Amino acid sequence: MIHRHDVVVVGSGMAGLRAALEASESLDVAVLSKLYVPRSHSGAAQGGIAAALGNLEEDNPEWHMFDTVKGSDYLGDQDAIEVLTHDAPEIIIELEHFGVPFNRLPNGHIAQRPFGGHTRNFGEAPVKRACYAADRTGHAVLHTLYERCIAKKVRFFEEFHALELLYDPQRNAVCGVVAYELQTGEKHVFHTKAVVMATGGYGRAWSTTSNAHAYTGDGIGMVYDQGLPLEDLEFMQFHPTGLHPIGILISEAARGEGGILRNSHGERFMERYAPKIKDLAPRDMVSRAIMLEILAGRGVEGQNYLHLDLSHLDPRVLDQKLPEITGFARAFLGIEPKVDPIPVAPTAHYAMGGIPTNIHGQVIRNAQNEGIDGFYAAGEAACVSVHGGNRLGTNSLLDTVVFGRRAGRHMRQVVPELERPPLPKDAGERMLDKIARANNAPGETTVQEVRERMRRTMMENVGVFRTEENMTQALKDLDELKAMYRTIKVRDDGKIMNTDLLDVLELGFLLDMAQATAVSALARTESRGGHARDDYPNRDDANWLVHTLAFKDGENVRLDHDKKVTLTRFEPKERVY
Ligand code: FUM
Repeated sequence: MIHRHDVVVVGSGMAGLRAALEASESLDVAVLSKLYVPRSHSGAAQGGIAAALGNLEEDNPEWHMFDTVKGSDYLGDQDAIEVLTHDAPEIIIELEHFGVPFNRLPNGHIAQRPFGGHTRNFGEAPVKRACYAADRTGHAVLHTLYERCIAKKVRFFEEFHALELLYDPQRNAVCGVVAYELQTGEKHVFHTKAVVMATGGYGRAWSTTSNAHAYTGDGIGMVYDQGLPLEDLEFMQFHPTGLHPIGILISEAARGEGGILRNSHGERFMERYAPKIKDLAPRDMVSRAIMLEILAGRGVEGQNYLHLDLSHLDPRVLDQKLPEITGFARAFLGIEPKVDPIPVAPTAHYAMGGIPTNIHGQVIRNAQNEGIDGFYAAGEAACVSVHGGNRLGTNSLLDTVVFGRRAGRHMRQVVPELERPPLPKDAGERMLDKIARANNAPGETTVQEVRERMRRTMMENVGVFRTEENMTQALKDLDELKAMYRTIKVRDDGKIMNTDLLDVLELGFLLDMAQATAVSALARTESRGGHARDDYPNRDDANWLVHTLAFKDGENVRLDHDKKVTLTRFEPKERVY
């Protein structure tokens, strides 16, 4: 079946919904999601959304900009970071007017709390900058945006799994996507003037992750399949406090509210690693500190986790501001955080890299920043790049709404002038080929086996600390796993809700992302942000103040390091906290 809309948004998290909402002011917009909208992973975002509102103490966007640049280990593009941080106060007020139920101060203003790496006066001390709805901020914003989109008559296609981007390299334009409908097994072609890729990240490639099962990098993978570049994939963020051993998120808000990380001696070890801001150091540093404590034998009971202690906090703080994470500790581990410390360890959390875009959300196709007509990306799937080598907590939700809205605005300006490019004759062939191959494979192995081995090798070899030897091992494993993947047969031969087929297709995207990540990481011979190498322990601005672009090249990955980092206001400096 062929559907025609001005715009199709792929993904129904906060970035996709914000783009759809904006575009729907004057364009006909459809949103495709492989899930039901409220199950989008933005709904799992907990601690807050940053904006220098200054509701409790002095703050300003310039300080927020500086913190974000420094937090990114100077890899973030400063023109984009300026947009992010200076648009922030106004976009939070807009969300408030949309109806987001933010926590409030006694004077009625939006409540704010500290978060890692956010400081007052260029690093002086932590500042209260995160606006929040308890520890369910993403859930609150997601539902509000969804209601708004429904009111604006955005058309939703739920359980439609987009699997192929329609990109014409001759015209340098996209004209839609092809999707597989879960309920029927039918192919649907969406023929459009513009596409927004807002499908989130690919943290499911690691065995310990805070990411939802659906986070399999499909959108990023579809772009990569078309020979288009992906940017800075080597920068995967490990959130310091995944609930051990499951990996689900225990919000940094817990430390913002006064929680303390302790090693097996009960020591507040972050005092040694970040004397000024301690437990509220940026995530890359806290994750490394936790791993170093564990490697030094100070993991709790000699194991690979530490403690997050909330027992000294006023119990009302836990009940009113951290109900979700305290509930997780009770439900999953049977512990009471008002009394007992929570076991935590780093967990793969957020892809700083993704589909390269400019500050209008337009996808770019090369190091010279040439845009592609009618093609946009936003949110975690995109790399604009505001997070550079390491994202500050609460900047991701901000990124989704700032750049989702900007993509929507840009589309409203340009889409009316765009011709809808003709549908290619072979639209959908790539998707059908993949399905046919999976149906007809010999069945020598299973999704489970390949997936678990991929996740293990990524965790062991492309984790918080990396070396040439580890990453080479990961690539060797991934080559073998990719060969095994080609033999996986879909066991369900039905058309209705064939999740077996989708597991196979998702695994294909994950393997591509894992390989491109490991190749990008191996090439970057320095340590910066979330990319920490034991064999190259220092940041190397002379050689590596550049973005990585990774292109699919048959079964291999081709890299390009010609894309410069945009520096405007802040020169790179040593990063101490
Ligand atoms: O820790 C957290 O609540 C996560 C926030 C984020 O990733 O921005």
